[in-house]
Amino acid sequence: MKKINIAIDGPSAAGKSTIAKRLATKLNYVHLDTGAMYRSTALKATRNGIALDDEKGVCEMLANTEIILTPEGKVFLDGEDVSTAIRTDDISMAASAVSKLKNVRADLVKRQQQMAKAGGFIMDGRDIGTVVLKDAELKIFMTASAEARAKRRYDQNIAQGIPTSDIETIAEEIRKRDYDDTHRAESPLRKADDAVEIDTSDMTIEEVVNCVYQLVMPLLEV
Ligand code: DC
Repeated sequence: MKKINIAIDGPSAAGKSTIAKRLATKLNYVHLDTGAMYRSTALKATRNGIALDDEKGVCEMLANTEIILTPEGKVFLDGEDVSTAIRTDDISMAASAVSKLKNVRADLVKRQQQMAKAGGFIMDGRDIGTVVLKDAELKIFMTASAEARAKRRYDQNIAQGIPTSDIETIAEEIRKRDYDDTHRAESPLRKADDAVEIDTSDMTIEEVVNCVYQLVMPLLEV
């Protein structure tokens, strides 16, 4: 069967990664969580004492940085498993800061495009349908209210044993990141003209997976 590429964009904690992961298993595709690449960049910059607005410094660091996303969903930064370390609230904010830097985006976008060449990828992020995979056969724009997203992120943190703030604090951070992600100069978060919008606030994971699956199936038969 034909292998297509699927782009899933949307604000933070809208469920993109969870849905992409499930869908990848169902279709036998590879899920690529591009947010993990911005998070890994932020983690290394923080550890190395590089300011998060130092574009030159972060880019030079990236030139000697290996970020590997495994099909099992693990993230390796220069060989170290950072899958959990990149999920803290501090790194969420730091990732949002480095993602504003034009040349950092250029570097990571190039890596993402290289990876997706073979087809059969479900890539989630903010600029996948608008920049990284402009020609993706299916583009989804996934949204949910800030309250619904904060509750999900909180539950996810608890389930994974990740230190977490309370729901209202997470909701505030989500609103701030939404603002930053949609108002930044470089590749701001926006729905691609040809993307299908899904508001998942009142949907279960299964319902969202099935909804996207119904959109994918006809594309595989042509
Ligand atoms: O999806 P996430 O929360 O793991 O993303 C972390 C940060 O990285 C978020 O603030 C937005 C940014 N990001 C981006 O600018 N472009 C992407 N393709 C993915 C994430």
